[in-house]
Amino acid sequence: ELIQGDGLLLLPAFVDLHAHLREPGQEYKEDIASGLAAAAAGGFAHVCAMPNTRPVNDTRSITEAMIARARAIGGPALHPIGAITMGQKGTELTEMADLKDAGAVGVSDDGRCVTSSSVMRRALEYAKTFDLTIIQHAEDHALTDGAQMHEGAISTRLGLRGWPRVAEDIIVARDVLLAEATGARYHVAHISSLGAVRILREAKARGIAVTAEVTPHHLTLTDAAVLGYDTACKVNPPLREQADVDALREALADGTIDAVATDHAPHSTLEKDCEFAEASPGLIGLELVVPVLLDLVRQGALPLGRLVDALTRAPARIARLEAPTIKAGARAELCLVDPNLSFVLDPARLRSKSKNTPFLGRQLTGRVKMTLASGRVVFVDGEGAAT
Ligand code: DOR
Ligand code: ZN
Ligand code: ZN
Repeated sequence: ELIQGDGLLLLPAFVDLHAHLREPGQEYKEDIASGLAAAAAGGFAHVCAMPNTRPVNDTRSITEAMIARARAIGGPALHPIGAITMGQKGTELTEMADLKDAGAVGVSDDGRCVTSSSVMRRALEYAKTFDLTIIQHAEDHALTDGAQMHEGAISTRLGLRGWPRVAEDIIVARDVLLAEATGARYHVAHISSLGAVRILREAKARGIAVTAEVTPHHLTLTDAAVLGYDTACKVNPPLREQADVDALREALADGTIDAVATDHAPHSTLEKDCEFAEASPGLIGLELVVPVLLDLVRQGALPLGRLVDALTRAPARIARLEAPTIKAGARAELCLVDPNLSFVLDPARLRSKSKNTPFLGRQLTGRVKMTLASGRVVFVDGEGAAT
């Protein structure tokens, strides 16, 4: 299906539903300028930014400041996701109407799952009144305390505490029931387990307003990548097993999983160059979507059209954004991709401030050559192999 030879692909520019740009508060990992530069290099025209900044994005003023900063930079558009609750460990709901009015495209408490059924029900009821999506990092913390990786044969072999699939499944199942009871829109962030995929499939068949995203790393890597204690592969939710990867691929291909999102989670070298148990979870992804996922297309696991939909129309629909399209007279939001360009991933080429990815040094095929966002060229790939 991919063009053979030297042909470039013209695609609508991508929309990322899930990135951590770390500004305000942790600019040593990433800031809005470097994060948006990475996004442009990855083919994105729109980036939705998770609220686990310092301070947490739980107010109109932080949301507005993030948007103003991005507009001053002039690259891809930034769309903040507000917090569901106030502060780091709050149970009081945020003023979601204000957040939406300020430009937030959803609310989440990423990395700190809303485990209280009561808070979740109130959040869904409240968000429903403004057609705002609740985005859940599905993790029952009672089952993941101290967990370092997926619970299975490899965690036993490595002597690392495991994060069982059921910790994700329980929250997704409960939230689906709450979404049904409230009629609100509910979105599963970075779905990773085969059980959660089954629950999602059943929920959609029953007409419940639930959507989901999957990351490139959960589609391509398993817990075997953690052998050797590679901290670049430490991530929440963890890399799981081949059966999960197969279920995720099938669900993405048949549309049960709506979107691909990066969960771009930059961390400094010091936060990864340490004992596995001390390492921060997360990996960068904005610049790697094309080479990592075109591989799935080449393997026949995913039609190119479905991949493009999962990176453009589907996330735009969930965030209530206008989807980038290629049509005469539209303001250009597109990317040019060379599907056959092979290269070794060099950290010096990455625009992100952080280099935490297990794909460093790997041979990859497929590269973004140019990105246009909001009618402007925001990225052009440097010529030749040097830097
Ligand atoms: O691996 C992760 N990193 N998972 C999360 O939920 C949070 C994220 C981060 O902010 O670094
Ligand atoms: Zn998360
Ligand atoms: Zn995240």
